[in-house]
Amino acid sequence: MSRLTTFQTKEIQQTETEMVRFVREHTNNQRLQESMLYSIDAGGKRIRPLLLLATIASFNKEISLGGYQTAAALEMIHTYSLIHDDLPAMDNDDLRRGKPTNHKVYGDAMAILAGDGLLTLAFELVSMAEIEPTEKVLLLQLLAKASGTHGMVAGQAADMQAEGNKLSIEELMAIHQRKTGALIRFAVVAGGILANQSEGTLEKLDQLAKHLGLAFQIRDDLLDVVSTTEELGKETNRDELLEKSTYPGLLGLEGAKKALTDELTAAEAILNELALLSTFDAELLKEVCGLFYL
Ligand code: IPE
Ligand code: IPE
Ligand code: MG
Ligand code: MG
Ligand code: MG
Repeated sequence: MSRLTTFQTKEIQQTETEMVRFVREHTNNQRLQESMLYSIDAGGKRIRPLLLLATIASFNKEISLGGYQTAAALEMIHTYSLIHDDLPAMDNDDLRRGKPTNHKVYGDAMAILAGDGLLTLAFELVSMAEIEPTEKVLLLQLLAKASGTHGMVAGQAADMQAEGNKLSIEELMAIHQRKTGALIRFAVVAGGILANQSEGTLEKLDQLAKHLGLAFQIRDDLLDVVSTTEELGKETNRDELLEKSTYPGLLGLEGAKKALTDELTAAEAILNELALLSTFDAELLKEVCGLFYL
């Protein structure tokens, strides 16, 4: 088993345990709880918790309960974003993580509330997490910025407004950096904060994550065109139908593949710079970067 596989199995399991425990203990409406757990239990790649926890581990720090709690909160916010993204008023998708979308099973109203519940609960979880007070406040602020009107929500709004329009690559990049990039940046920077890193190192981690975040959405755009529903667990060829602006749409398949590779090459160069720090072991994050290729 590679170091990454072992890490994925053990650390992601702990994160999932935290998510499920917190939802169970803090949701007193049965149907609402069921609907939230439906989307959490459906799985997914858990790439954001993986990045957060792998970043902590790269500084040779033990992952504390606070680390798992922050990773769990981040995945709860991501899961909420998918539930809302799939709603008929948004991307109108019927399949997610290999199962019928939340609203297909629980109805639009409960799916909206399950999303609201996961979003709110994520902040409750971090507020109660075993993290030093100063770091906790910083993490809460960064998580709010990444998820909200400076980040993911703003990106989703721009994504909707852009339907049917042809954007410039700069405009599209700005959407992708917010709708998907912001939560991925939070993952890596939060890992650095929980590993008690300096401002300078956090800045480097942020640069690294900026490339990874953009790469991840370019890859998602590409997979919509080149992959299958069975492989992805979600309906493919949706973006063209919804008249979304995407990297393959603007640059063609080869151009989008090159943009993906360019972002990942830039990320790896920053990892090599970080590796010059005696406290940083880049190998695990390099393995995680490997997951970002097509
Ligand atoms: C899909 O995210 C939507 C994007 C933000 C690109 P993921 O590809 O991480 O979805 P899951 O969590 O694995 O289902
Ligand atoms: C979603 O982007 C980004 C989110 C913030 C959820 P997409 O709409 O492309 O994600 P998929 O393809 O439905 O997973
Ligand atoms: Mg969408
Ligand atoms: Mg979508
Ligand atoms: Mg997509």
